[in-house]
Amino acid sequence: MLKSHNPNSVLIIGSGIAGLSLALKLAEHVSVTLLAKRGLLESNTRYAQGGIAAVLDPNDSIEQHVQDTLIAGDGLCDETAVRFTAQSGKHMIQELINLSVPFTPCNIDNEQDCALFPFHLTREGGHSHRRIIHAADHTGQSVQISLALKARQHPNIVILEHYTAVDLIHVNGRCVGAYALNQASDEFTTFAARAVVLATGGAGKVYLYTSNPDLATGDGIAMAWRAGCRVANMEFMQFHPTVLFHPSERAFLVSEAVRGEGGLLKRPDGTRFMPDYDAREELAPRDIVARAIDSEMKKLGCDHMWLDISHKPADFITSHFPTIYKRCFALGIDITKEPIPVVPAAHYTCGGVMTDLNAKTDLPNLYAIGEVAYTGLHGANRLASNSLLEALVFADAAYHDILQQIKTDTLLMPPALPDWDDSQVRPSPEQIMIAHDWDELRRVMWDYVGIVRTEKRLNRALKRTLVIREEIEEFYAHYELNTDFIELRNLALISELIIRSALARKESRGLHYIADYPNKQQDSQPTVMIPNNYMK
Ligand code: FAD
Ligand code: SIN
Repeated sequence: MLKSHNPNSVLIIGSGIAGLSLALKLAEHVSVTLLAKRGLLESNTRYAQGGIAAVLDPNDSIEQHVQDTLIAGDGLCDETAVRFTAQSGKHMIQELINLSVPFTPCNIDNEQDCALFPFHLTREGGHSHRRIIHAADHTGQSVQISLALKARQHPNIVILEHYTAVDLIHVNGRCVGAYALNQASDEFTTFAARAVVLATGGAGKVYLYTSNPDLATGDGIAMAWRAGCRVANMEFMQFHPTVLFHPSERAFLVSEAVRGEGGLLKRPDGTRFMPDYDAREELAPRDIVARAIDSEMKKLGCDHMWLDISHKPADFITSHFPTIYKRCFALGIDITKEPIPVVPAAHYTCGGVMTDLNAKTDLPNLYAIGEVAYTGLHGANRLASNSLLEALVFADAAYHDILQQIKTDTLLMPPALPDWDDSQVRPSPEQIMIAHDWDELRRVMWDYVGIVRTEKRLNRALKRTLVIREEIEEFYAHYELNTDFIELRNLALISELIIRSALARKESRGLHYIADYPNKQQDSQPTVMIPNNYMK
């Protein structure tokens, strides 16, 4: 049984695109321990469909990608982070091509000049150009498998699956490791490390309906917050406009690329509604499309709208969207012949742990990369397919920063660390409270902190969330932990951070629409939250 581990290594928490791409680079220089809360292949990354945004077509330009990102971000992006990310795109994609990620070739249709770029580029909302490289509609799975295979084979990477990181360890103002629960043995392991990297993804599970898998419980944001790091822009939770509406398939995404390739949004009577909302119609940024669907559903009293691509040739649909076609077909929906019932659902956490351009957090030796981080790229609304890119770019930035410290011998060995102390807790008498709180919390967030907010509903949500948090902290102090409970505790904290950030923003901007303040304020700034025990 692994009770402690090699303290000479870098600890990476998370096995999505961010964690794996960093692990592969660092492992050439230093030993790496990589924790995953589920199996190595399970992550948000695995479910990514549309693709990765990057300037790859010579007729496109970095400047256009920057402008599209700034427009989607609705005035709150950090332009330096946007330029940094857009400029790195081509290089990051070349690295994935070198790792044999099977991107769809250019000649899938006749839309592009294949002499200019050999891979197909699709279009998504908010992009002024075809810019999204993809592997059909299973880009994430292809990337995840390619990276995971290489990581498994690497002699310098120790992969520990089904380990739940619980909290970071910081001594004398620097991060020196983390405690994690080994789910197989129910024991806690102390991971001392020279540097710790949070690559734990987002917090979509805080909402009742989400495109995210179960693991997206905001653990990294919660751990960093408890360790004294600032978080920013938590009110900007992105709702994806088109998640399949089906009683047994609440979390299946219907990619924005379906609209990019000509899919139309329709009311039950078959009429289109997006032209009534935005000149960019179905390809307006996501916040606009999600609000339009929400508004039509409320106006007409419907529980979903329709997304129709059946006017395109059947072989075009099945070759571009094989996963969506098969999944819908298995549920009795033939998307080559009929429209798809869709609803908006929570999808992406634009806020997160504040980092600089080297992916460094407020706590020395702690990095945050991927969806867990707030880099300034997304502002008030993420541009489609910018998140896989951001994960690659900031994993690379963290790699260079850590490598520099290794070369200059400034990455210190951690001190000896105490084991997790669970001598004061006893076995939990019942699980029902956990199940109940999970359900209530996510329902409160969905009902009161959703696509359209009001101050009254936010205050009601805060009141309920604080009661739930109090119950949870009481339980935490007295009973043994399991992963369900660790996740619930983190989700409750994330809920509070989202609600407090939403209450602090007295305007409507990007993904945050609050009926009491329908207009934008001038000189709007990111919402920065500082923990009480902030120690910088
Ligand atoms: P993840 O891929 O979510 O990985 C998180 C990792 O952290 C997992 O290994 C998990 O086990 C681990 N972890 C979490 N908590 C703990 C803990 N406490 N202890 C140990 N390990 C932990 N973005 C795009 O750019 N393009 C797309 O086409 C696209 N499509 C999407 C489709 C869907 C359905 C979804 C849900 C998202 C999509 N996104 C897309 C967003 C994108 O997939 C994510 O933002 C991105 O994959 C996040 O990568 P990550 O490495 O930061 O985290
Ligand atoms: C999608 O395929 O619609 C998801 C793209 C994204 O979230 O960036």
